[in-house]
Amino acid sequence: MRSNALTQHRTEPLRISLLGPVRAWGNDGELELGSHQRKAVLAVLAMRANQLVTKGELVDAIWGEAAPASAYGGIHTHISALRKRLEPQWSRRSTGQVLVSSGTGYQLRLGGSQLDVERFGDLCELAGERRAARDVAGELTALDSALELWQGKALDGVTGPHASRQRFRLTDLRLSTIERRARLMLDIGAHHVVIDELDRLCQAHPLREVPHSLLMHALYLDGRRQDAIDVFHRLRAATVERLGTEPGPCPSGMHDEILRDDPALRWTRDEPRGPARPIPLLARPRPGRRPGFTGRATQVAVLRSAVSDVAAGTGGVVWVDGAHGTGKSALLAEGLTDTPGCRLAWSVADELGQLVPLYILLDALDVTALSPDPRRAGLAAMLRVLDLDRFAPGAEARVERAIDGVVSLVRGLCADGPLILVLDQLQWADPMSLLVLRCLLPETADLPLLLVIASRPAPQRPGLARVRAALAGTRAATVTLGPPPSAGR
Ligand SMILES: Nc1ncnc2c1ncn2[C@@H]1O[C@H](COP(=O)(O)OP(=O)(O)OP(=O)(O)O)[C@@H](O)[C@H]1O
Ligand SMILES: [Mg+2]
Repeated sequence: MRSNALTQHRTEPLRISLLGPVRAWGNDGELELGSHQRKAVLAVLAMRANQLVTKGELVDAIWGEAAPASAYGGIHTHISALRKRLEPQWSRRSTGQVLVSSGTGYQLRLGGSQLDVERFGDLCELAGERRAARDVAGELTALDSALELWQGKALDGVTGPHASRQRFRLTDLRLSTIERRARLMLDIGAHHVVIDELDRLCQAHPLREVPHSLLMHALYLDGRRQDAIDVFHRLRAATVERLGTEPGPCPSGMHDEILRDDPALRWTRDEPRGPARPIPLLARPRPGRRPGFTGRATQVAVLRSAVSDVAAGTGGVVWVDGAHGTGKSALLAEGLTDTPGCRLAWSVADELGQLVPLYILLDALDVTALSPDPRRAGLAAMLRVLDLDRFAPGAEARVERAIDGVVSLVRGLCADGPLILVLDQLQWADPMSLLVLRCLLPETADLPLLLVIASRPAPQRPGLARVRAALAGTRAATVTLGPPPSAGR
């Protein structure tokens, strides 16, 4: 869609939406557009914005071959009425600024952002760019924003051959976008989130193969192998009955892969699993050594020995207990000054952070939508979908999925090499992080993972006590600090 900067500036307040009932908004709010036929005229002009649409084309679009003799007069009336709404300052002597007349037809001048169909196209394009850049969260955001533009059936209530054709085309685009999003969800391991939506899509479109293939895949990943096979049989029955053919290669291939439990089903992203080279973990500088640090030789040695062990591939846990001001953070800084061959992930919890699910872990592991590491960006995207802030009954499966996601990320990072995960002020950690930590403790037996934890005693936090109790089953070293040497004991 092209329009010069001057036109765009003048017409900016006008907004038109076709992805639902046909509606328009001007400077003073929503415009009263009138009859369905008038809306159909506006829709044709908007879909071909900044191009000349001849009167004959308008007549064809609205009436097709059944145009009555009065059709041309009707178009003229609709254009005048629309012009009054779209540009109230228009004078009869001018040719219009927004809805422009020329000898043979009309042109509606719009900037790209003024028509929802254009915004939809732009966002789908952006999703493609984000995908190419392996920015999972960006891709998801673009697809979500594109789908949010839809307010029902495209061109709802508008009649005529043009509206029918466009409705069909736009609906197909919307379905493909939902399918793209569902595929992305499968890629990032959030298959359970899309099962219901795909199921509804398959019921509404019993012959459409892509959602059936995706639903089969999602059910299989959810451990519902037989349900996945049943979906194929339903699709096959409908295809044979209505089209007299077998389903195409996409659902048939998926069916075969499921029957032979093909390992490829477990990983679908069409790009390498991890970054080509490990991306450094600690985004911010590690806390510096405290000037004047003295004593604590045994405790520093415990930390340094655990660091050498993990660097050599043997994981472990060091848990530092102590009241406020006893020197826990100072000890961590001193003991972890030098960590050759290991990557550090370090976070300090605080009182506010405990309200945010997984805050301390995501902060330490640098899990953000903008991470250059697709595993971390993927986890950020998945957590956004899980929407853990909205705790509701039945959220257990989502919480479990989130915990699995973080544990898998840690496993993946450990596959790149030894990892030291430092969690300071654990007494402020959010409950979900504590659950993850309980899952991570036994992992230290198999992974090159060193967990270093510092916490004040917090008897009122049962989640913390449970993590502490779970230490019993691990190679954990516990260090309990009294007042620091400089405090004069
Ligand atoms: N071994 C030490 N030698 C000298 N000074 C120390 C030592 N340990 C701690 N300190 C000093 O004591 C103060 C408190 O230490 P730190 O902040 O490490 O305590 P903390 O246990 O982490 O407290 P909080 O629970 O509030 O986080 C700091 O000023 C620190 O520099
Ligand atoms: Mg501290």
